[in-house]
Amino acid sequence: MAKKYIIANWKMNPSSSEEAIRLVRGILSQTLPKNIELIIAPPFIYLDLVKKNFFAKGGSAFGGKNEIKLAAQNVGWFERGAFTGEISGLMLKNIGCDYVIIGHSERRHKIGETDEMINLKLKAAFKSGLNPILAIGEKERGDDIIKVLNSQIKSDLYGIDASEIGRLIIAYEPVWAIGTGLSDTPDHALSSALLVRKIIGNLYTPDFAIDLPVLYGGSVTAENAADFIGQTGINGALVGGASLNIEEFLKIIKFAE
Ligand code: PGA
Repeated sequence: MAKKYIIANWKMNPSSSEEAIRLVRGILSQTLPKNIELIIAPPFIYLDLVKKNFFAKGGSAFGGKNEIKLAAQNVGWFERGAFTGEISGLMLKNIGCDYVIIGHSERRHKIGETDEMINLKLKAAFKSGLNPILAIGEKERGDDIIKVLNSQIKSDLYGIDASEIGRLIIAYEPVWAIGTGLSDTPDHALSSALLVRKIIGNLYTPDFAIDLPVLYGGSVTAENAADFIGQTGINGALVGGASLNIEEFLKIIKFAE
């Protein structure tokens, strides 16, 4: 059975370590399905706490019953030195992260991250041994997604070698669907995922396009998760708001089984 990725993007939540512990404990209260790569992306400040409390050696939590992977929500592109406020890829790797989300629309549009910066971050992530989860998507419903996705993918992956691309995950997240309660239609999400594969296939080789995990994100809930995750061409979901509700998030994981 093909592996499905479920990523919990906590964004700038929760506001206390106690609450972060409660969330992870809640997720681990159930045995997680084997075919799922469950990835938690807490704020930087909780990465160590989540790891220390719940990750035994080798990445398994609670005696190996469940395995959860850790992702950062961002990474600096500098390696070290005088860059106040920045966190390097090596720091993330050393703290136990396997993944990092790069190019999330909230960083692109609310913070002003450009494709050039995203490209530098992707290069830094690959160099540090992290697996990047590149988020892309059109801003408005009805935007020309062929143009938008082509431009984002080509600029974000500029100069990145085929030898690294095998570690990439792409999350197709239409910006208008993020945090709005207005999810994409499963058909449109699937055709966008196919478009992503086509662009990657043209840039690299068709083999990469076939193997590339392409996820959907944007108002995924327990109600609609199965419609997205259940499609063969969609390899999982990037979940924001619903990942902060234990009951709902556990249902989403179940659907991915
Ligand atoms: P949402 O966020 O599920 O709250 O829409 C998704 C995301 O930001 O990745």
